[in-house]
Amino acid sequence: MATETSKRGIWNSRIGFVFAAAGSAVGLGNIWRFPYVTGESGGGAFVIIYLICVALICVPYLFAELSLGRHHQRNPVGAIKAITGPSGWLLVGGLCVVAGMMILSYYSVVAGWAIGYVAKDVIAPHTSFEEFIASPGMVITLLALFLGLTLYVVIGGVQQGIERWAKVLMPMLVVLMFVVIIRSVTLEGAAEGISFYLYPDFSEVGFQTIMVALGQAFFSLSLGMGTMITYGSYLPKRENILNSGGYVAVFDTSIAILAGFMIFPAIFALGFDPAHGPALVFVILPEVFAEMPLGGLVGVLFFLLLSIGALTSSISLLEVVVAYFIDEKKWSRKKSVLTIGILAFILAIPSALSQGATGFLSDMSYLFGEEGLFGQNDFLSILDFFFGSLFLAVGAFFISIFVGWVWGAHYAAEEIQQGSSFGGTLMKVWIFMLRYICPAFIFIVIMGMLFDII
Ligand code: TRP
Repeated sequence: MATETSKRGIWNSRIGFVFAAAGSAVGLGNIWRFPYVTGESGGGAFVIIYLICVALICVPYLFAELSLGRHHQRNPVGAIKAITGPSGWLLVGGLCVVAGMMILSYYSVVAGWAIGYVAKDVIAPHTSFEEFIASPGMVITLLALFLGLTLYVVIGGVQQGIERWAKVLMPMLVVLMFVVIIRSVTLEGAAEGISFYLYPDFSEVGFQTIMVALGQAFFSLSLGMGTMITYGSYLPKRENILNSGGYVAVFDTSIAILAGFMIFPAIFALGFDPAHGPALVFVILPEVFAEMPLGGLVGVLFFLLLSIGALTSSISLLEVVVAYFIDEKKWSRKKSVLTIGILAFILAIPSALSQGATGFLSDMSYLFGEEGLFGQNDFLSILDFFFGSLFLAVGAFFISIFVGWVWGAHYAAEEIQQGSSFGGTLMKVWIFMLRYICPAFIFIVIMGMLFDII
């Protein structure tokens, strides 16, 4: 086993990798962000555009990250350095590490709310969502709890920690989701929600819809900041990248779609508005649960499921940063995890206080104007826009150019061929997508986002 000969970890089995990578992908992005973004962007038509982004851009790009990671068995910075030596491209790797850190910070805040909602009836009964997220003591304690859990798993390392936990947590998540879906679609009036969700009305679709869909697809599949480079670096050479990556993409997308089936039928059955923004899951669902038989239990299960999904994702965000310090700075795993964990906690505090606790963080219109960025003006949403959408697209743009042109798509294709039968037309199509379609499409979207800010 490679762990005996080197300090780096390696996945124990392919299924271990698939669980861990799917665990990274499936999280708040699928269950919290996807439904509210879909609700705001008009339902069915958004879902179709999202699916096109996944199939056309994200899946080809996913294979680029996986092959780059496995080839040199390094973190994003190390993998790039192994190819170019010291060069400006290292900045792209550096951007990945910084983005990982920043996403981890605000992600842990939202995950903390989810943990809090598991036990809400006990710790804060009769408190509204707005009051709940504006109480500094509460959100910071929950944030610390969630980050603590993340550190605990990541200290365990690749096999003992991440893989073992993902194998238990992922199947639990799926089972719990089906329980909630069955409840939701059998409510009276659920059909209207299903048709909002499935019937595509393209009349409201604009360029912004495409931008939001692509950003959401990157975020949901954990792409654009080297998570899949890092996870790919623990894949043994004999494993089939095509199959494994394919499972992860299909699994992640299915969970997002299923999350919609949990939420939209219930919202319509109970007469709520689907365009409720980031608060959707937290404000609407408890009311939904309250009005259904066994609602208390379903609510606890739902937020438990959301917390589990968030944990297997935050693990992967932390792991990118940790792998950088282990490989490049020769720190021990424990030292890396603890140092970065403390830093992430400090960085997360402004996000935690930006939901009503502190005025100047909750409404930053003095910087971003009354409109804010895409309608949001709090510190957490601003970070999410920059690091969870814009920088992911920028990272993906540069990484696809790097793999397609600098390292060379043919080398990447050779790496994929080890362990999988990859050749002929399929390979040619992939190379074309990676070199031309991905960078061009992503570039247009980035320009659109920048123009939208200015
Ligand atoms: N994909 C995760 C989710 O849907 C979040 C996440 C984990 C992520 N690692 C990432 C997002 C890397 C962007 C980049 O919740």
